[in-house]
Amino acid sequence: MRLDKYLADMHVGTRSEVKEQIRKGRVQVNGSVVKDPGLGVSAEDCVEADGVQIGYQEHFYYMLNKPAGILTATEDRKQPTVLDLFPENLRKNLAPVGRLDKDTVGLLLITDDGALAHRLLAPKSHVDKVYLAGTDLPVTDEDVKRFAGGMTLADGTQLMPAGLEILSPDRSRVTIHEGKFHQIKRMFEACGKKVVYLKRLSMGTLTLDPTLPEGEWRELTKEEVRMLRS
Ligand code: URA
Repeated sequence: MRLDKYLADMHVGTRSEVKEQIRKGRVQVNGSVVKDPGLGVSAEDCVEADGVQIGYQEHFYYMLNKPAGILTATEDRKQPTVLDLFPENLRKNLAPVGRLDKDTVGLLLITDDGALAHRLLAPKSHVDKVYLAGTDLPVTDEDVKRFAGGMTLADGTQLMPAGLEILSPDRSRVTIHEGKFHQIKRMFEACGKKVVYLKRLSMGTLTLDPTLPEGEWRELTKEEVRMLRS
């Protein structure tokens, strides 16, 4: 691949920015300064920009602490989407893995690794998702039993057993193993309660970083990626 494409794909800068960096002698390949943006490089070459090695990465993985009021989509003509929270040069091929409602906050995995996304979302994968839910009315032991029994929703949708742990009268932790449309809201609705706050805390092995403020994102660590893939 061309050196300028390599650097742009590795998010060093836009194509024109990296071309400029190359022409100014700020880029080295295998220890030598290279001034030709069209030089062919591969993942085996040692590419450095301003003395920092730019290793080749096939895919990018981000954890977003989704704020309320943002759509889980890649684009929308009217409303802001989760991808609008990322700078333009990082957005190429990125997509959210699964969907959180507009008013739901918390963990959202965003990646260009379609195969991983597909695997995590496949219905038979049964990836655990843990949420913190606030309800308008106190949650009861009866609700816990209904969640555990695998409830049937108003439209006849049959759900798998789910975990419901009461943290305080109006706050509970919910664990589901599937991801049906508005699932948690509809489960509480079936118990006569309205969800007034919903935050996703984890998805499979990936846990929301407690130091990540709402509206911010960070790259996953190598270990987080390894665990998600295993
Ligand atoms: N369940 C819901 O009802 N909404 C979400 O955003 C996620 C799970």
